[in-house]
Amino acid sequence: IKQEALDLIAEAKDVAAMNDIRVKYLGKKGPIQEVMGKMRDMSVEEKKETGAAVNEVKQELAAVIESRMAELEAAEVEARLAAEKIDISLPAQARVMGGKHPLTAIVDESVAFFRSMGYEVGVGPEIETDYYNFEALNLPKNHPARDMQDTFYIDMHRLLRTHTSGVQSRTFEARSMQDLPIQILAPGKVYRRDDDDATHSHQFMQLEGIMIGRDISLAHLKATLQEFVHYMFGPEREIRLRPSYFPFTEPSMEVDVTCAKCGGSGCSICKQTGWIEILGAGMCHPNILTIAGFDPEIVSGFAFGIGVERIAMLKYGVEDIRNFYVNDMRFVTQFKDWG
Ligand code: PHE
Repeated sequence: IKQEALDLIAEAKDVAAMNDIRVKYLGKKGPIQEVMGKMRDMSVEEKKETGAAVNEVKQELAAVIESRMAELEAAEVEARLAAEKIDISLPAQARVMGGKHPLTAIVDESVAFFRSMGYEVGVGPEIETDYYNFEALNLPKNHPARDMQDTFYIDMHRLLRTHTSGVQSRTFEARSMQDLPIQILAPGKVYRRDDDDATHSHQFMQLEGIMIGRDISLAHLKATLQEFVHYMFGPEREIRLRPSYFPFTEPSMEVDVTCAKCGGSGCSICKQTGWIEILGAGMCHPNILTIAGFDPEIVSGFAFGIGVERIAMLKYGVEDIRNFYVNDMRFVTQFKDWG
C-alpha cells in the first residue's frame, strides 16, 4: 500500500490530484483505516505490532503528502503570478479628454473678469413671465419696442426669455436700498423667433450686467466695458458707443469694438466699417428703479447685455454662428487649448 501510494504521489501533477490521493489513502474509507478496523479482532501481540506498522505508514504518507502539497501549491501560485504579470513596457491606451465648448470658455472667462470687479453671478429662468421679460422693464403690452425681439410665447403669461434682462427686473424686485451697491453678472441662454443664418440663431447666449449704487454714471459704464474688451481681445482694441434705444435704459447705446482683422480700416468681416457691434447697454431708466422701490433721485445704475456668440466669433474667428450649435467634433475640438 505504501509503495503504491508513494508512486501515485510522485506522479501527481497538481494540488487537486494530491487531494484525491490523500482522501484515498488517509481518508475514512482508505486502506489504512481498513487495517485499523480489522485490529479489533487481533490478539494483543498482533495489535501492538500491526498498530505500530500502520501508524508508521500513516505518518510517513501524511508527511510526504503534506510536503508535496506545499510544493505543488507554491508552484501553482508561481504560475498564476507569471500569467498575471503586467507588461509595463506596453504602450498605454490614449484617453480622450473632453474640452470646454467655446461658448462656455467665453462665459467662464467673462465671469472671472467681472468677479474680479466685484460682481456676483446671478441667474434667471429661461421660461420667463411676460411681466419680468417685458412689463417690469418698461415694456407694457402693445409697446412697439416689443417688436424688436420676436418672441416664442408659451401661453398668455409665459414665454422663452428674449434677453437676460429679466434678471434686472428680478434683481431690482428682490433687493432694496440696503443692498447697495448691487453688482450682478447673469449669463444665460435666450430665444428669439429669428430665421437661422450665418449671423442669426433662434437660440443664443447673453451676459447681463447690472451695477446699481449712488453716483453711478455713464463714465463707469464706459470704463467697465472698455476694461472688459481689453481683457477679452487685447489692449489695442477700442470701443465706440452709439446712441440707441431700449425702453429700460436712458440713455441707451450699442457698443462696437474695432475689427480684429482690419484694425478699424475696413474689411469684409466688419462690412468696411472697421467696427463690430457686441452689446447693448445704458443707464437704468428711472421708471425701472421706481417700479422696484429705489429712489432715482438718490440711486442710479447701468446695465448691459453682451452677445456671447459675438464675442466668441470675434475672438476665435468663427464665421458662422451655427457652428456653435451643431456639435461637429471637428469644430468643437479645435478649442480644447483655450480652456
Ligand atoms: N436686453 C437688450 C437686448 O437683448 C440688451 C441690453 C441689456 C440693453 C441691458 C440695455 C441694458 O437687446
